[in-house]
Amino acid sequence: MRESRAIVLEGLSRLEYRGYDSAGFACIDPEDNRLMYAKAEGKLSRLVAQLQEHPIDGFAGIGHTRWSTHGASSEQNAHPHFDCHKQISVIHNGIIENHHELKRQLESEGHHFHSQTDTETIAHLFEVVLARTPILSDAIAQLVTHFQGAYAFVSLLQEHPDVIVAVRKRSPLCIGIGEGQMFVASDMLAFAGKVPKVLFMPDESFALVRKEGIELYAFDGTPLPIMIQDVDVTWDLYEKQDHEHFMLKEIYEQKAAIHDTVDFLHSVKDRVWDDIGVTAQHIRDLSSMNLIGCGTSWHAGYIAQFFFEAICMIPTQLHLGSEFRYLPFFPSDNSLFIAISQSGETADTLEAIRMVQAHSVPTVALTNVSSSTMVREADGFLLTQAGREIAVASTKAFSTQLTALYWLAHRIAYEKKIISAEQLERAQEDLLVAAEVLENSIENYKLQIIKELAPRYARYRKMLFLGRHSSYPFAMEAALKLKEIAYIFATAYPAGELKHGPLALIDTDIPVIIFSHQESLLYQKLLVNAQEVKARGGHIVAFAFEGQQELIELADVVFVISRVKPLLGPLAMTGLMQFFFYAIAKELDRPIDKPRNLAKSVTVE
Ligand code: AGP
Repeated sequence: MRESRAIVLEGLSRLEYRGYDSAGFACIDPEDNRLMYAKAEGKLSRLVAQLQEHPIDGFAGIGHTRWSTHGASSEQNAHPHFDCHKQISVIHNGIIENHHELKRQLESEGHHFHSQTDTETIAHLFEVVLARTPILSDAIAQLVTHFQGAYAFVSLLQEHPDVIVAVRKRSPLCIGIGEGQMFVASDMLAFAGKVPKVLFMPDESFALVRKEGIELYAFDGTPLPIMIQDVDVTWDLYEKQDHEHFMLKEIYEQKAAIHDTVDFLHSVKDRVWDDIGVTAQHIRDLSSMNLIGCGTSWHAGYIAQFFFEAICMIPTQLHLGSEFRYLPFFPSDNSLFIAISQSGETADTLEAIRMVQAHSVPTVALTNVSSSTMVREADGFLLTQAGREIAVASTKAFSTQLTALYWLAHRIAYEKKIISAEQLERAQEDLLVAAEVLENSIENYKLQIIKELAPRYARYRKMLFLGRHSSYPFAMEAALKLKEIAYIFATAYPAGELKHGPLALIDTDIPVIIFSHQESLLYQKLLVNAQEVKARGGHIVAFAFEGQQELIELADVVFVISRVKPLLGPLAMTGLMQFFFYAIAKELDRPIDKPRNLAKSVTVE
């Protein structure tokens, strides 16, 4: 039967969010049992076209889309990689940290490498151990003793054409189990709807997957029991509908997504502590909070720090996922650790959860993906209801994270008897008002942005973003959006820091984007900073709130946003900010949904 190609390519298209630098496929020719492969640089569609022109197919197949870690995004570095005799193929996620050493050793023994990847060392070392130890499971148990790092790899071997080898250490890997059909993937979305059951491979385990069954082993070679679960996710084709890009569609979905998130949170309000895996008493005793995330999710956490400190009066510490494990962590008994992640797969955030668990501090994953690794590994979870987010630039995930965190701050405050049930209800209404403003602001300025402002600002190569208090992390998020999708250099500063250095940058080539705040003291201070920019001949684009007349008059371009609860100012400005930068990126003809060098989900540290 020759049918693996179509299945593998479909699975890859579902998982392309993990990388799109290159793609590859390998299978075993059912006629002469030879390993065959195809690779292409760039997006999966190029591999698909290549395979249409030069078709290969087989009973078992493996495929990969790559986000480059070691070596350029070339065809040569695309997976699969091979041993010297092209009889062992390997695809791999994660990083083999000691690959330099291994490569040096293997080269000294006569192995020839064809790529700059760490992955290729796996294939050559597999060749070495198999030559010594022909029993496959024994050979793999030996193989894994050589590797340092977090990795998941899958191998197809010419000598064992009926087996797919799957190996997992820290990086996710699961096996879809059907009738005479098996799938191995980093995310069960790859086979959702095709098989009813899934085995999530335990950490530090490997599997021999055959059509008729699975053998599962611990890294030391001892057999492990196979714990099967139902596949509880579905795959729906997610279309752009009338929108030119997924990002635009997702910007417009935000109002509904905020509504869905509020409705959901309201529906779980009485059982929320059970859901997130803590007792009500733990919440009542809570004396500190920890928030962690990366990129946009970190910005959401930064804004939420203001929520938790102002609404529940709990000192809140914010951590960056990528820094966390290298800094001291001071656990306290009465603490809660919330990991914020759209995908629930970000390796840095996941590693932080694992480290915190070792300190017995309860961990909660605030994520958008119910089938994610964080949902499985954290002590509890809370789901945002953004729906699938396809564009690499996060939009509705961000606004629903803010929504859920604002709600959670109120729910904790209610549990601690700081606010009443009515105030909790009102917080939900305030969120819906902010959602309305988020959408209306886009409508109010859409035409002006498309016709006048996007062409004008697309000409600049750098921009400076300013905010104060919660509008500072919002400025950071705005700068990230512009960099990510328009490739325009942007940096965010707390406005009060301007005079300590960045003011030297001010000239006519660097627009200054100011995000205002509704609190009058903060607004007054921001106004002073805006005047400092103006006094030096600077050019200001202001996101101001209704009634902020001085700023409105001072700015060269101004967007006026309706007033909302002050802490929800960033949420109200979100849609317009995203739309403005989307329009600039479109003007520059950037590949908005899949910007260069990025991936939707970053599964390496
Ligand atoms: C945002 O536009 C980015 N794509 C990126 O910063 C992202 O937020 C970050 O990689 C974290 O991802 P996560 O929310 O899935 O953990």
